Amino acid sequence: MNISKRGQGIEFSAIRMLTPYADQAVRQGKKVYHLNIGAPDVETPQAFFDAVRNFEEKTLAYAPSKGFEALRKATSNYYKSIGIDFDMDEIYITQGASEALDFALTTCIDVGDEIITCDPYYSNYQTYLDLTGAVCRTFETKVEDGYRLPAKKDIEKILRPRSRAFLLSNPGNPTGAVYTKEEIQMIAEIAIERDMFIIADEVYREFVYDGEVFYSFANVKEIEDRLVLLDSISKRFSACGARIGSLACKNKKVLECVNKLCNGRLSVSTLDQYGAAELYNTDKSYFQEVNKQYQKRRDVIYQGLIDIPGVKVEKTKGAFYIFPEFPVEDTLDFAKWLLTDFELGGETVMVAPGQGFYRDPEKGKTKLRLAFVINEQDIKKSVKILKAGLEEYQRIKSGI
Ligand SMILES: Cc1ncc(COP(=O)(O)O)c(C=O)c1O
Repeated sequence: MNISKRGQGIEFSAIRMLTPYADQAVRQGKKVYHLNIGAPDVETPQAFFDAVRNFEEKTLAYAPSKGFEALRKATSNYYKSIGIDFDMDEIYITQGASEALDFALTTCIDVGDEIITCDPYYSNYQTYLDLTGAVCRTFETKVEDGYRLPAKKDIEKILRPRSRAFLLSNPGNPTGAVYTKEEIQMIAEIAIERDMFIIADEVYREFVYDGEVFYSFANVKEIEDRLVLLDSISKRFSACGARIGSLACKNKKVLECVNKLCNGRLSVSTLDQYGAAELYNTDKSYFQEVNKQYQKRRDVIYQGLIDIPGVKVEKTKGAFYIFPEFPVEDTLDFAKWLLTDFELGGETVMVAPGQGFYRDPEKGKTKLRLAFVINEQDIKKSVKILKAGLEEYQRIKSGI
């Protein structure tokens, strides 16, 4: 019996597609360092766990579909503290930014409408684009330009009558690009001129390095009726497992539709929302500390990678990914081989092959996405494994 064509057409996410091989490597007794996924090892602030422990209700009931008021209020206060104006009633709690994206796409586009994003883009966007029947069109951003957005006229070239929304992550995953105020305003201008929505994914807002300045789409007043802001506590508070995100918007029609979708799935986890609300009381020094840590990790991985012969890499400016080019024909094959056939002292690495981050997989065939979310020592070991693995892989491939 066949499953739907739609289901058959959905690709595995590049981030987890090699999981069966990693599981097998572990069963064989290898230690696997995970650079494939942005799931940080940084401790979640204790306030989350305290709130869950102190939960006193006798029944674990559904939460309100829009999310608990306390969490919506806390999210609104957080936004206001960074100069973004969303009232509690303009914020709905979702199951991670992932569900917020699903809701945003369902609300803003019809099947066959086009979503405009940049190449490369966050691999999991593709799952939701497939799920909601959106057609993905991309404009290219290039490593040699620091993954900056192209000129307005070049973006306009790819737009068609059914281009309904921009979907952009800022800071970018997998590139780490942090868009300038001018770039944000340029996208806003196009969206106004072409009557498009902007779905802005700002889950890495706090993670910018080297004095870069983050500028939010929510700071552009002129687009407030067409902006859907996706957010999450996964990265902000190193709480990926809580599965708490949000969708914020000022457009009443959008909110009404999202509310229906929230109703349909009943609610988000009650306990996780209790914990998340407390996280927003975290002192600002937490972010400074964590940021410093990531910047150091970024430096360690960058330094390690530039020392590998044939590897080309740019220093990441934001988020916690680095996106090097490796001197191999097919990074998917290389990444799989690292798990199935290679070890260095009983250890190996799991990485995300670049193909899944591009509309045309061919373009990502020499790229790898590495998440610097593990400690410095383990990053150093991982890079050593990558270097030794690459040497061995090249030797085998060249038949020497
Ligand atoms: C750009 C981007 N958006 C959204 C998500 C998913 O966030 P959440 O865990 O809140 O679903 C990720 C996760 O890596 C991401 O990188």
